[in-house]
Amino acid sequence: MAADGNHSGEKLLNLTLVVWRQKNAKAEGQFETYQAKGISTEQSFLEMLDVVNEDLIAAGKDPIAFDHDCREGICGACSLMINGEAHGPQRGTTTCQLHMRQFKDGDEIVIEPWRATAFPVIRDLVVDRHAFDRIQHAGGYISVNAGGAPDANSIPIPKKDADLAMDGAACIGCGACVAACPNASAMLFIGAKASQFRYLPQGKVEKSQRALNMITRADEEGFGSCRNHFECEAACPKDIPRRVMAELYRDFTGAALTRED
Ligand code: SF4
Ligand code: FES
Repeated sequence: MAADGNHSGEKLLNLTLVVWRQKNAKAEGQFETYQAKGISTEQSFLEMLDVVNEDLIAAGKDPIAFDHDCREGICGACSLMINGEAHGPQRGTTTCQLHMRQFKDGDEIVIEPWRATAFPVIRDLVVDRHAFDRIQHAGGYISVNAGGAPDANSIPIPKKDADLAMDGAACIGCGACVAACPNASAMLFIGAKASQFRYLPQGKVEKSQRALNMITRADEEGFGSCRNHFECEAACPKDIPRRVMAELYRDFTGAALTRED
């Protein structure tokens, strides 16, 4: 047994948290400091926040609001800026899958919500990401009526195309790409959502109109334009590759060239 933990390899950490607190969308927010004591290195980042919240509730104070659902890296709900990095210091990892072994005893951890005009803060660390839904509604679908589910393999898809489509389909819509981008651009998200269709026979017919509709909606929502910083790719927990943005622009240019206005 380790001297400072409950079983082999586990350690207990005492941490200082500097957390963004904001009562509602209109209130002014501020940072508040909390002590997180006896946190196990085996706990996830969200479990650490659960412990802090239990202490706050026991003390009669408001718990820290944060988004979460699956806690296994698939739903995209968790969304924290941790020491200035979207989803924290470990690449290819959502906040819910980040473990406290990434931190050292005595560390100070600054926790903020996603910062982007198009993602207004609802409360504390929770932001409104409905703008992503509205971008999806603008074009992230196939409009033809394809009837019932066909038999598997009735439309042969080359393995290479299926793999490329699956790369885009891995996007969980978390918004880290926007939060990490100096321009709060949503292009990696849009590229992923368009890329999952553009290689498939059912989806490729509308690829240019889809790109135009989704990019236009992103502009209206207040997302910025891409300036090739590629912070999005570095922050993405699903390792969505930057090539999906190049494909998106190629499709968008095709639409722009054929538009009448
Ligand atoms: S592209 Fe990556 S970072 Fe952006 S929403 Fe999708 S999974 Fe999240
Ligand atoms: S809570 Fe679902 S991905 Fe983190």
